[in-house]
Amino acid sequence: MPKNIAQNIHQPVLLVETLQLLKPQADEFFVDATLGLGGHTEAILAKSKETQVIGIDQDLEAIGLAKERLNSFGERFKVFHSNFSDIKQVLAEAKIEKVDGVLADLGVSSLQFDSRTRGFSFRFDAPLDMRMNRESNLETAADLLETLSEFEIAKIIYEYGEERLSRRIARRIVEKRDSGEPIKTTKQLVETIEKAVGRGKKDKIHPATRTFQALRIAVNGELEILERFVRDSVEILKKDGRLAVITFHSLEDRIVKQTMQKLSGKCFCPPKFPQCVCGAKKEVEILTRKPVVPSELETEENPRSRSAKLRACLKLN
Ligand SMILES: C[S@@+](CC[C@H](N)C(=O)[O-])C[C@H]1O[C@@H](n2cnc3c(N)ncnc32)[C@H](O)[C@@H]1O
Ligand SMILES: [Zn+2]
Repeated sequence: MPKNIAQNIHQPVLLVETLQLLKPQADEFFVDATLGLGGHTEAILAKSKETQVIGIDQDLEAIGLAKERLNSFGERFKVFHSNFSDIKQVLAEAKIEKVDGVLADLGVSSLQFDSRTRGFSFRFDAPLDMRMNRESNLETAADLLETLSEFEIAKIIYEYGEERLSRRIARRIVEKRDSGEPIKTTKQLVETIEKAVGRGKKDKIHPATRTFQALRIAVNGELEILERFVRDSVEILKKDGRLAVITFHSLEDRIVKQTMQKLSGKCFCPPKFPQCVCGAKKEVEILTRKPVVPSELETEENPRSRSAKLRACLKLN
């Protein structure tokens, strides 16, 4: 069977492992909160003739390609152009109360990362946009670099990029802006970073990698919505429903891990508190004591999967 465009663009990460945890059965209903190019959804729908999936994505371009790919599943697949922070509203709109499983495969897709025009990657010279949802009125990365203070820019690069040279980079960015040359393109940003930190021959990763990650997270508000999303997803699960989340960096993984732990009844109060005030209550059972990571074969075939971590939990009541 000839592959369609979406299949060629993005390889679904940890696909077998995700299906083992989500365990889609006939008649079950799933939400794919990060539809992307529809790779995971296609595999869920292919599991049985009656499984249904609602796909959510904030990127219209991805939705267009996923729709084409999943066309043959007819009414069993529906799609919503939305942010997954609105998962409860999406479900209400679809007139569905509870579901058997929710999947989120976070971050950007290869469609976005390999785009020559959207500014996600320093491999291509493009306007510094980085919005996953181009129909939104979110500020672009260039807007942030033009309007935030030096302190705020450094904080973003340090916290979201874990870049220890964040202050040097922020200073250079603001110096350029003050001299009447605000940074508008990926190439200008790369050059500014290289001037700020130099380029050691021994560097394993490009010196701009962490700053680009940080700006993307800030532009799309990726971390702020994550704890709420995990909680909302658990809320909409039926008893014995499953939630699976794939993350791509330690900041995301920490939030997912801790939120699942809290929902599994672990108390996060300081040890000296005489009694629990954090409201720990056992609502889920954690299915992945350690995060599931890709096999060597997968990382060889798909280097993008290298940093992936999969965690899952089961709703108890
Ligand atoms: C890694 S890709 C998903 C790939 C998909 N699992 C597949 O196999 O083709 C992540 C997708 O999630 C979308 N996305 C990221 N954050 C989102 C959010 N907060 N709300 C809705 N979609 C989001 C991105 O636009 C992107 O298309
Ligand atoms: Zn507590």
